[in-house]
This record gives sequence, C-alpha cells and structure tokens, in this order.
Amino acid sequence: MPLTQSVTPEIAGRWVAEHVPDQTGRTILITGANGGLGAATAEHFARAGAHVILGCRRPEEGERVASRVGTGTDVLPLDLADLGSVATAAKSCGPVDTVIALAGVCYAPWGLTADGFEQHIGVNHLGHFALIGQLLNKVRDRVVVVTSRALEFCGRAGFGAYVPDDPAWCTRNFNAFDAYCQSKLANLLFVTELQHRLDATGSKVRAVAAQPGWADTEAGMHSERWVGDVFWRASCRLIGQPPSVGALSILYAATSPSARPGGYYGPDRLFGMRGLPAEMKPGRTPSDPGLTTESWASAERHTGIRFDV
Ligand SMILES: NC(=O)c1ccc[n+]([C@@H]2O[C@H](COP(=O)([O-])OP(=O)(O)OC[C@H]3O[C@@H](n4cnc5c(N)ncnc54)[C@H](OP(=O)(O)O)[C@@H]3O)[C@@H](O)[C@H]2O)c1
Repeated sequence: MPLTQSVTPEIAGRWVAEHVPDQTGRTILITGANGGLGAATAEHFARAGAHVILGCRRPEEGERVASRVGTGTDVLPLDLADLGSVATAAKSCGPVDTVIALAGVCYAPWGLTADGFEQHIGVNHLGHFALIGQLLNKVRDRVVVVTSRALEFCGRAGFGAYVPDDPAWCTRNFNAFDAYCQSKLANLLFVTELQHRLDATGSKVRAVAAQPGWADTEAGMHSERWVGDVFWRASCRLIGQPPSVGALSILYAATSPSARPGGYYGPDRLFGMRGLPAEMKPGRTPSDPGLTTESWASAERHTGIRFDV
C-alpha cells in the first residue's frame, strides 16, 4: 500500500475535502457566497463538479468570485435585508439540490432591514426563513443552515435571552454581540423545527445545521470599532482556520450521506473552534421546545411566509 494511502485522514476516521462525494449534476445555492466561508464553500462544490449558484447582495462581487470558481457558476442577486429582494430571488431560482443559508451579519452596529427588523435577526434568520419558505418545494435534497457556537451565550449570566417576538428590539436595549448570538440560536431552532415538520409530512428533504468554528474571514470586522477589529484579527491569527477548512463542516452537513436529519455539525477540536467535521455535542445549547415553536411562529408572523410543511 502506498504511504500516502496509509496516512489518509479517512483511515484516521476524519473527514476532509477529498471525501466530498461527486457533485456532478447537482445544483447548490449558497447565500453570502461573495467572500469568506461562502466563497470557500462554493470553491469546494465547484471542484466536486456541482453547478453552484452564488446568492449575493452585491452581484458584481459575486461575478468576481464566479470567474474564480469557474464555469458552471451563476450569480443570483439576493439581499436578505429586504423581503422583496428575497421573494424575487426565490421566484427566479430554479430547482436546487441543496440550499446553504450561510450569509451573515456579525457584530454590526444598530441597523434595521428594509422591513424594519434589527439587521442580525433580520438577515441571519428572518431573511433566510423567508427564502427557504419560498424555495422549499424546489429543494430536492437538503437545507443547510450555518450557525455559530456563539448561540450558547444566549440567556447566560451577563447575556440577553432570545426574544423571538421582538425582531426590532423594541423591548430591550440593543447589544451587537447579543443580537448576533440570538440570531444564531434562531438559526439552530429553525433547523430543529423544519426537520420536525419535514418528518411529519414524510418528506425526503433533510435540514441540517453546521457551524464553521473560528474561521479567518471578515466576519468580525463590522463592529466599526478599532478595538473590535484588532481583537478579531489577533484571534484569527491565534486560533482561526482558513475559510477552506472552516467550510468543511458546512460541506459535511451538505453532502455526507451520514449527516443526520436535524443534526448539527462543527469542528472536532478546541471546543468546536478548530478541526474537522464532527457531530456537535449538545453542550450548553438552549433547547427549549417552547422557544423552538415560538421562534417559528414569530418568523411566520413577521415575514408573512408560511411553509408547505
Ligand atoms: N468566521 C467565523 O469564525 C464564523 C464563526 C461562526 C459562524 N460563522 C458564520 O459563517 C457565516 C459566514 O460568515 P463569514 O465568516 O464568511 O463572514 P463574512 O466574510 O463577513 O461574510 C458574510 C457574507 O454574508 C453576506 N451578507 C451580509 N449581509 C447580507 C445581506 N443582507 N444579503 C445577502 N448577503 C449578505 C456578505 O456579503 P457582503 O460581502 O456584501 O457584505 C458576505 O458574503 C455567517 O453566517 C457567520 O455567522 C462564521
């Protein structure tokens, strides 16, 4: 046996990019694909033969990435901070095998979406809720939602609890970190409830959550505070992984036959911040069934979107 074979991570039981199954003939829609983890995920998929659709609010940036990713890549204009843009994108998108809800606003200052939602919850959760609700009958295989371990801070001492029915923060004082954490908890609760509903209708589509660990992207550069930028860059240098490695947990959730419906995957080392894909242990993840249904009902009310499941 050649030496390279005897040391492959597959033999060590770990999952790397070479394990992505052949994606020829499959179509993958990735939101927020014009940079960071989205572009890295798109590159992995294109390499495996997929037709990739880059959902981008700045289509010109998407075209730049598309030309790098290669032929068979299209750009879909999509601004998740505007439910009108989400509806147009959902309508113009054809059938897809998998949709990856990856775009995210991270640690940004106060701002409202076109529909009056605080931008973290508005983009990260409600925009994706509306997109997937309008696309679901065109999805053949999976819905993957990208969340973060930051969700575990919700409700802990010194951090705010998620209040689904207050997407404009009318009843609380705004805090950017809390807003990010709560939007990421909403992402995970969404996957749980969507899978529950898919199961109830006997659908073959599966919903899976993934978190990329700490990836060296622009995610932490939106606080508009120099101290935030310095902290982010230093942390990326110390513990961050390249986006191409952070993307692996997302790829696992999106392609592995072993990814469990309703499962949650992330890196296996350094408290889920580095490493290769593994199933996330529940840890301190808030998992109140009442909060899950409340979050879904609130998203329906605020977006006006009802799912077919
Ligand atoms: N990096 C990490 O360590 C880390 C850790 C945990 C979770 N995550 C999650 O990973 C995902 C990707 O983050 P990243 O690290 O790649 O950050 P990033 O480099 O800041 O990329 C974020 C992407 O989201 C897009 N986006 C933002 N607002 C949008 C909107 N209104 N409509 C459409 N697209 C929008 C951005 O587009 P523009 O370029 O136009 O702004 C960009 O393409 C996020 O969901 C984040 O929460 C990242």
